Amino acid sequence: MDDGEYAIITNDGYITRNIRDGRPVQKKIMLIDWDAEMSRKGGFPHYMLKEIYEQSETVKKAMAIGDDGIKSLAKGMIKANRAYVTGIGTTFYAAQIGQYYFASEAALSVPAVSSDEFLENFPLTKDDFVLAVSQSGETYDTLRLVREAKARKAKTAAIVNVVGSTLSRLVDQAVMQGSGPEISVISTKAAVAQMIALIRVSLEAGVLTGNLTNSAKRQKVAQLNSLPALISDFLNEYSGLFHTIAEKHATSHNWLFMGRGRYYPIALETALKVKEVAYLHAEGMPAGFLKHGALALVDDNLKSMMFVPTEAEKELFRMTMSSVEEIKARGGKLIAFHFSKSLRGSKLFDDQVLLPACPPLVSPIIALLAGQLFSYFLATTLGRNVDKPRSLAKSVTVA
Ligand code: M6R
Repeated sequence: MDDGEYAIITNDGYITRNIRDGRPVQKKIMLIDWDAEMSRKGGFPHYMLKEIYEQSETVKKAMAIGDDGIKSLAKGMIKANRAYVTGIGTTFYAAQIGQYYFASEAALSVPAVSSDEFLENFPLTKDDFVLAVSQSGETYDTLRLVREAKARKAKTAAIVNVVGSTLSRLVDQAVMQGSGPEISVISTKAAVAQMIALIRVSLEAGVLTGNLTNSAKRQKVAQLNSLPALISDFLNEYSGLFHTIAEKHATSHNWLFMGRGRYYPIALETALKVKEVAYLHAEGMPAGFLKHGALALVDDNLKSMMFVPTEAEKELFRMTMSSVEEIKARGGKLIAFHFSKSLRGSKLFDDQVLLPACPPLVSPIIALLAGQLFSYFLATTLGRNVDKPRSLAKSVTVA
């Protein structure tokens, strides 16, 4: 229903009326193909773990989103005078991943701006394009921004999970991500699906801007298509390891999660996960900030976690390892999630997980899954209410 309407459910159907004058209002029927089974735990101890394990499927569904919708988003962004991607909380970090991929794959500047601070920073005009990302499609800050964007005649679009949600009906173009119901307050699979959709848009935009040849795009799409199997193997082979490492470090109460480049939003999202599900103080930060103040924090009370890029990402890898050395030089305690066999047994790390080899295009997604498992097992070790963490709601519909 839209604002200003109400529905009466009767034995043989329903009537929708206008609140002001009670006039019946005709509504289009939308089929939501979610069944009861999809919203049960299916033998998992928590919905959060079930939904982490569903990510192999949700990536497949994100890859099955129609090309027309993906291409239309890419065209809209390129045609606009300025294009932005927005969301809040976890979906802001998904939007930030988009920003990095639009730059690397399409040579496009598409700032990711959190929806709560957007209007105070970016005066929108009719020549602008705003792509909103939202699982629920009901988030107050994101709806407020999109309504203002429409009032200023900017083009609006959304990548959204809940069919029939307010956001999906508000924007000029809605791309449904098809992740199925996400029950846990802690968003995992929906965000990964949004990241995949944004990477797909960046690849289409890359061909349109001439930054990518069609064959390069096809090769990258093949890498995205290899992700579901990689995710499934990773979760089955690594969960026990993350359980062990989380148990070992659950007594640390001050965390600094870091990454560079496209691993920076992954560090931010992991820090958010640790805050919201394990109730531990966790800051996400670009590793490059260390020398500009944060190094003063490094002491026995602080635990650092570094997402180290693949060695194929040469410059990023080099700079990230230099940040690792900065922390170690001050006696800091550091855990690394990395992709390099050459770093196995490195004395630079107090603890580490060697993640499975994968193409740089998808390695941030695997790094994110590592962060999800780590935060989940921190929370279970600490006996937290994983699916319904204190003070949080699944959809924040008020300011
Ligand atoms: O429904 P939305 O994706 O718009 O929700 C935005 C945030 O409230 C949401 O991502 C929140 O940060 C997550 N539940 C955290 O896991």
